[in-house]
Amino acid sequence: MTSAQEPPDDEITAELERYSRVAVTGGSGFVGRHLVSALAARHGDVVALDVAPPPVPHPRRTQTRHVDLRDAQAVEAAVADADLVIHLAGNASGTVSVERPRFDFETNAVATFNLCEALTKSGVARLVYLSSAMVYGVPQVAPLPETHPVAPFLPYASSKLAGEHAVIGFCHAFGLEATIGRAFTLYGPGEKPQIAGGEVSQFLRWHLRGRPIHAAGDPDRKTRDFCHVEDLVQGLLLLAVRGRSGEVYNIGSGTETSLRELAHVIETVTGEPARLVSDGTVTEDTYRMVADITKLGGLGYRPRIPLLDGVRNLADALGDRPELPGVDTIFRAEQRLAASSGRA
Ligand SMILES: NC(=O)c1ccc[n+]([C@@H]2O[C@H](COP(=O)([O-])OP(=O)(O)OC[C@H]3O[C@@H](n4cnc5c(N)ncnc54)[C@H](O)[C@@H]3O)[C@@H](O)[C@H]2O)c1
Repeated sequence: MTSAQEPPDDEITAELERYSRVAVTGGSGFVGRHLVSALAARHGDVVALDVAPPPVPHPRRTQTRHVDLRDAQAVEAAVADADLVIHLAGNASGTVSVERPRFDFETNAVATFNLCEALTKSGVARLVYLSSAMVYGVPQVAPLPETHPVAPFLPYASSKLAGEHAVIGFCHAFGLEATIGRAFTLYGPGEKPQIAGGEVSQFLRWHLRGRPIHAAGDPDRKTRDFCHVEDLVQGLLLLAVRGRSGEVYNIGSGTETSLRELAHVIETVTGEPARLVSDGTVTEDTYRMVADITKLGGLGYRPRIPLLDGVRNLADALGDRPELPGVDTIFRAEQRLAASSGRA
């Protein structure tokens, strides 16, 4: 049922008609598959670009193109016929960025530069770039507005911020029409457990398998803005049709939840008491982080999936024996050594 408070989906669909072909980079990934499905339901001409094939086929009529965005010439060819590009492709893992910083920088920063250059050459495109709230570094206020200083402390956040700077530079120097979204902590069905570092997926997987839940840092003082991927998709579509060029918008739920509160939500959903174990050795990201979503709200954004509903849906999707999380939380290279010796 749609209330007057909910975003105008029909209006978004109508506004998307101004674009003749919509391309999504990273279309095979977690966010990409949700966005491609949402677009395919609203638009007749959607192209999913990725270096990897989709794990399950995209909706009918969606074109799939193989492209490595680190290859400037290949990017030019892949986006030449699109007039809206939503750019999601990249390395989404902070841990991978510590282990393979060059790969991370090339995949996030250089690839975004390549895309901006290609779109400037093709002349008619509009770009939406999905960045990360990690660019803010340690928040000084809660909730966090877009005017908060940026201070990355992970290679991942630096490479996402470099991508933002490429986008803004091309806006100013070449008139590229582009808008940036900064996503907070995402969750939802379809994340890859081998690389997904978000707490909702990790906590639920451990709990459903009868294991203790490992909280990196202080579970009471560490708070996050857990944003369901379907709400993120709503935000991205709004940026595509209504976002102001050259501007940055937070995309989150606007709700602050501590790790202990998340564990309680999981208990409520599953009816099983959670065993929360705190790892005091990882302290870098024990801080409050919640999005101020006022600016995106001005475009019509209304988050629709409360955490309790989102966790319940995810628990249903994961079933009784989900794959266990396969990633440690790493901020510095020496933590990798400690983590592997701890496992040995
Ligand atoms: N997942 C989160 O919690 C989160 C939070 C904030 C921001 N983001 C951003 O959202 C975007 C999507 O994240 P995700 O969680 O869907 O990640 P994902 O790893 O599931 O998807 C990324 C996709 O990009 C593709 N890709 C990687 N390198 C490529 C290249 N060189 N050329 C073409 N395709 C390439 C991958 O094959 C993959 O399909 C990323 O840019 C990430 O930084 C994610």
